[in-house]
Amino acid sequence: MKNIEISGVRAVYFSPTGSTKIITEYVAKGLAELLGVPMRSTSYTLPGERARALTSMELSHREDSEERLQSTAKPLQNVPGVFAPGELVVWGTPTYAGRIPNKTLDFVREILTTRAKPEALADSVGKVVKEISTAVNSESDKSVFRNLMIPIAVYGNRSFDNCLAELGGLMKKGGYLQVAGIAMPTRHTFSKTLGAGRPDSADFKALDDFCVKIKHKLMDMAVTPVAFPGEEEPERYYTPLRADGEPAKFLKAKPQLHPEKCTGCGTCAAVCPMGSIEIGGAKANSDDVAAVPGRAVNLPAFPGICIKCQACMQHCQNGALYFDDADFLSHVKMLEANFAKERKEPQLFL
Ligand SMILES: Cc1cc2nc3c(=O)[nH]c(=O)nc-3n(C[C@H](O)[C@H](O)[C@H](O)COP(=O)(O)O)c2cc1C
Ligand code: SF4
Ligand code: SF4
Repeated sequence: MKNIEISGVRAVYFSPTGSTKIITEYVAKGLAELLGVPMRSTSYTLPGERARALTSMELSHREDSEERLQSTAKPLQNVPGVFAPGELVVWGTPTYAGRIPNKTLDFVREILTTRAKPEALADSVGKVVKEISTAVNSESDKSVFRNLMIPIAVYGNRSFDNCLAELGGLMKKGGYLQVAGIAMPTRHTFSKTLGAGRPDSADFKALDDFCVKIKHKLMDMAVTPVAFPGEEEPERYYTPLRADGEPAKFLKAKPQLHPEKCTGCGTCAAVCPMGSIEIGGAKANSDDVAAVPGRAVNLPAFPGICIKCQACMQHCQNGALYFDDADFLSHVKMLEANFAKERKEPQLFL
């Protein structure tokens, strides 16, 4: 039997609080092991990671530039958007308001579609991928499916709504072939009870079994694109509700600080995916700061946009950050009241 040659598996993810990373890397690693190829991992969680990826994409299209020739080794190896020929891409995103988080959408679109130049890339695409393209794409001889991809929408036990379809749709638009897809419930980062303990052993077992099925699909050369429930080009986001059923308005909510608990360590600033936290934006003296007696501490300030991802809060070892926005807290209550009891199961599309 003729196999599709996969040269490696690449996990690509945005993951402020870690669930998407765990799930995406788990699937990528499982597939890499089954296929006997290397696995590598790329985060676009932090602003610097996204900037580097875009710079490298720029270079990757300046085919003849000195700069590109010099940089093909290391920097290009580990960024999303620059996929090796035959690389199977497992791309995970959390669901925010039923879709790809809107502050990452431009980046995802840019990597997957705007810079897509199938004709320019055709040369670098492995022979095998051309074979796949001929096999599955009868519409046009010219278009080339570049890499095979597996979109993963991770969500906090409410709903993934249009997230998986949106990600799969962007892959399709960019000339990639979405060979499978996963909608994966996980712990909701807003809450301790919603999706608590997920992913658990049953979830990992489901992913293990699914990886085997994906392998068989690849071995059978049955590389047909998969459709996902939801809209590929949704116009709206899910409207969060308060406990009383009215729309919850917390767009402007930001973390609040217990200055007496803060040591000025800077972790929150380092993990903020929006680069919105400045250390030293405010000062506290030793009277306010119990943890560091006898010296002034640089406290974090929050001048930039906040997407409520919870990364700063969850990474703070001192419990110095919290949200007090009434609508935000009421929305969390509503989610817990309505979605904590029912266990959502992984949905696997092949
Ligand atoms: C701003 C925001 C909006 C979210 N919206 C949804 C949603 O619409 N549906 C859902 O089930 N979970 C939702 N979640 C939960 C996340 O999808 C879930 O917590 C995910 O694991 C976060 O990924 P991470 O741990 O990789 O950061 C939302 C989380 C955040 C921060
Ligand atoms: S809020 Fe927490 S993470 Fe941020 S500087 Fe203070 S102690 Fe460190
Ligand atoms: S400030 Fe907002 S965007 Fe930045 S890490 Fe904290 S919750 Fe996330």
